[in-house]
Amino acid sequence: MKIAIIGTGYVGLTTGTCLADFGHQVTCVDNDPKKIEKLKQGKSPIFEPGLEELIAKNKQTGNLIFTDEIGPVVKDSEVIFICVNTPPKEDGHADLKYVEKVAREIAENINGEYKVIVDKSTVPVKTAEKVKETILRYSIDQAKFDVVSNPEFLKEGTAVKDTMEPDRIVIGADSQKAKEKMLEVYKPLIDKTNAPVKIVSVRSAELIKHGANTFLATKISFANLIAQTCEEAGADALEVLEAIGLDERIGRYFLNPGIGFGGSCFPKDIAAYKKTLEILGIDSSLVESVQKINESAIEKFLQKIEKELWVIDNKEIAVLGIAFKANTDDIRNAPALKLIKKLKSDGANIQAYDPQAMENAKKEIPDIKYFDNPYEAIKGVEALVICTEWDEFKNLDLQKIKELMVTPIIFDGRNIFNPAKMKELGFRYYGVGR
Ligand code: UDX
Ligand code: UDX
Repeated sequence: MKIAIIGTGYVGLTTGTCLADFGHQVTCVDNDPKKIEKLKQGKSPIFEPGLEELIAKNKQTGNLIFTDEIGPVVKDSEVIFICVNTPPKEDGHADLKYVEKVAREIAENINGEYKVIVDKSTVPVKTAEKVKETILRYSIDQAKFDVVSNPEFLKEGTAVKDTMEPDRIVIGADSQKAKEKMLEVYKPLIDKTNAPVKIVSVRSAELIKHGANTFLATKISFANLIAQTCEEAGADALEVLEAIGLDERIGRYFLNPGIGFGGSCFPKDIAAYKKTLEILGIDSSLVESVQKINESAIEKFLQKIEKELWVIDNKEIAVLGIAFKANTDDIRNAPALKLIKKLKSDGANIQAYDPQAMENAKKEIPDIKYFDNPYEAIKGVEALVICTEWDEFKNLDLQKIKELMVTPIIFDGRNIFNPAKMKELGFRYYGVGR
């Protein structure tokens, strides 16, 4: 099947590459010519495990091509996925200007043949109706199409795996023809994985995505609330949450306390869902509490650092990990950025290291020292702060670290080390909730 992907970010590029791998003929479009140039050379503009290899494989078979010209691709494709970004506006609402722009571009190029337009970007409920209205309003020909919602559940860092082995495939379609086309798109994946397919109304599909992300964010904030309780009450949050999570109704995943959730999705999606609740006249205080607890996670962690170090001014502090989570180069809403900016404004000299995110970090915070390996970043510092749970950090030589530091103080924002072992090694060690 001929498929178009509009927007080659984390979501679009992964989706397009995987669909090509299923045997479809996929053209990925992006209005950023630099990105397209890189992709044409076989280089991935983002770090995502396994993605660059899969791009190369499918480029070679001719199933995957890249262009910055949307018109011919729209004319030539049966199914068109909209994967552009939906950033938050000041008031928390999702800014749909890119989705509208792409809908207009589709309208200008749609021909008489039936097409399925797929909303893959995370959008508020009823957006598909607006996309349909927009295409009808701006199309010249008698356009024949349906708008479908097909939310994406991939996580950065495991995006290829999540797409190839999904927990479920959600198709929100209100016409039989569109449902059949979408089942054809996913047939190779359904045959291979037996992934459950939920065929629902368009509005339900839109809400499934916001609902899922809000629930996961709520779990994390709940874990951070338990962590705060444990710190005050003298209990260990990991012991508490482990046992809570063993209840099958609750589950162990996404109950890890830390310095709060970041990334391009949770913060923006829960803000957009909160806005939707307000518009619909529904109490949004649950979502507001999730946001508040998330902000307090990083604030309380910073207070811990200030309390232990007393004066921050002129202290040498190492920060390991800048990405918002491990296995990605993405720093959007990364808690580490907030932490570095605050420590820097209090006068600290920051020495930073991240295995993948330093190129992006240098653009956002150019005036700190970056190092090519963790030991160099730690050398001569008075405290070490861990902000991302990279495996590389879990395997560090702790004895060597102790020798490199002026004072062996560690603030572990992701609980990657064991407090008892750290004490035994002679560190002053602070985790979260322990
Ligand atoms: C984004 C959203 O954050 C997510 O919620 C949504 O589900 C999908 O889009 P992501 O893939 O991480 O996820 O976004 P981003 O990396 O910003 O990629 C968007 C791409 O669209 C960029 O490459 C941008 O150049 C491109 N784009 C944007 C277009 O091609 N045309 C436009 O008009 C606007
Ligand atoms: C999320 C959703 O998981 C995914 O289904 C959706 O499609 C996009 O948004 P992503 O943002 O890529 O994916 O990463 P995720 O693994 O969900 O982590 C988000 C943030 O939560 C990270 O900052 C992570 O460190 C934090 N987190 C996660 C915790 O603090 N504790 C946890 O237990 C899990």
